[in-house]
Amino acid sequence: MKITVIGSGYVGLVSGACLAELGNDVICLDVDPRKIDILNNGGVPIYEPGLEDVIKSNVAAGRLRFTTDVAESVAHGLVQMIAVGTPSGEDGSADLQYVVAAARNIGKHMNEYKVIVDKSTVPVGTADKVRAAVQEELEKRGLKPQSSALSPGFSVVSNPEFLKEGAAIEDFNRPDRIVIGAEDERAIKVMHDMYAPFQRNHDRLMVMDIKSAELTKYAANAMLATRISFMNELANLAERVGADIEHVRKGIGSDQRIGYHFLYAGCGYGGSCFPKDIRALQRTGEEYGLPLKVLHAVEEVNHAQKNVLLQKITRRFGNDLKGKHFALWGLAFKPGTDDMREATSRVVMEGLWARGATVTAYDPAAMKETRHIYGERADLSYADNSKDALQDADALIIVTEWKAFKSPDFETIKSRLKQPVIFDGRNLFEPADIKAMGIEYHGIGREG
Ligand SMILES: NC(=O)c1ccc[n+]([C@@H]2O[C@H](COP(=O)([O-])OP(=O)(O)OC[C@H]3O[C@@H](n4cnc5c(N)ncnc54)[C@H](O)[C@@H]3O)[C@@H](O)[C@H]2O)c1
Repeated sequence: MKITVIGSGYVGLVSGACLAELGNDVICLDVDPRKIDILNNGGVPIYEPGLEDVIKSNVAAGRLRFTTDVAESVAHGLVQMIAVGTPSGEDGSADLQYVVAAARNIGKHMNEYKVIVDKSTVPVGTADKVRAAVQEELEKRGLKPQSSALSPGFSVVSNPEFLKEGAAIEDFNRPDRIVIGAEDERAIKVMHDMYAPFQRNHDRLMVMDIKSAELTKYAANAMLATRISFMNELANLAERVGADIEHVRKGIGSDQRIGYHFLYAGCGYGGSCFPKDIRALQRTGEEYGLPLKVLHAVEEVNHAQKNVLLQKITRRFGNDLKGKHFALWGLAFKPGTDDMREATSRVVMEGLWARGATVTAYDPAAMKETRHIYGERADLSYADNSKDALQDADALIIVTEWKAFKSPDFETIKSRLKQPVIFDGRNLFEPADIKAMGIEYHGIGREG
């Protein structure tokens, strides 16, 4: 099948590469010439495990191409998959300008029937906006919006993406479910054909009305964020009452109705999806006269939790941190990615700098992105590895739970730090074990 993917970011590149891997003929479009240049020169502009290999082999096989040429990309695909960003607008609602621009481009250039697929995370009602934008462009060209001898015609489908950065290839290839919001048979058939290779083991396709599909994606992220904020709030209570949140986690996770997934206390969620999607869903609620109180609390708790490490640090070292120096492990919002959108590390570093401290930071994937965001500044230095980051720091702060941080050499930590103090924002270690090694330890929800 000929497929055009519009937007070559985390979702677009993974979708495009994985669909090409199945034998489809895929063009990925982006408006950012820098990204397309990197791709056309054999590079990959983002870090996602396994992605480079899938891209390389499919480019070599002639099934995957990258372009900034809109006319070429619209002419190519029967499926036009919109995977552009939907960042928060000023009021927190999803900013649909990129989605609408992509839709307009399709309307401006299409000359035959297209299935326009909204893969970006978009609020209920967006498919109608996409349809209206395409129709308007067709009408400007003197073409009738509906399929007829005088007009190419098109369908709009909602097909939200549930992949996780860091495991995106695996998630795309083995999805728990594929949600399709579609209301006409022709488009449903095209979606069935495109996703047929994913159906061999069992039926994963869930076809529903468009609004339900649009809402399903937000509901999934809202539920996951709720579990995190719930655990974080309980972690703070555990500290007050002298309980250990890790015992509590195991105690409740063993209940099959609750389960262990997404039940970890930590220093708050960030990333390109949860924060903006929670805000966008709240705005949708308000728009329809139904404030979503649970989500309001989820966001408030998360905001506070992103500051919890700073509170622990100032409680230990005082609010004036002039002359203090910290080692920071983990800059990406989660392991397996270089994405730093709304990452907790940023709140921690900026809070430390505001109090006069300096930081040496290390992350296995996000050093380039950190440089891109903060550049060169006197209060931030970049370490080449986790050990170098420790040198002469007053404490080690762990923000992201990369695997490589889980079994460090504690003797090196002790010898390189000025004094052996660890603030562990992801509860990587057992407090008793660390304390037995002579290291002062501050975890989340387990200090008693
Ligand atoms: N990142 C994730 O883990 C994830 C998971 C599921 C869903 N989503 C959703 O998927 C969407 C894309 O997210 P992302 O993380 O891939 O974003 P991204 O910012 O990494 O990529 C978006 C790309 O779209 C390009 N673009 C913008 N306007 C364009 C246009 N008119 N034509 C062509 N390209 C255009 C941008 O230059 C950019 O490269 C968002 O709605 C997001 O919420 C993301």
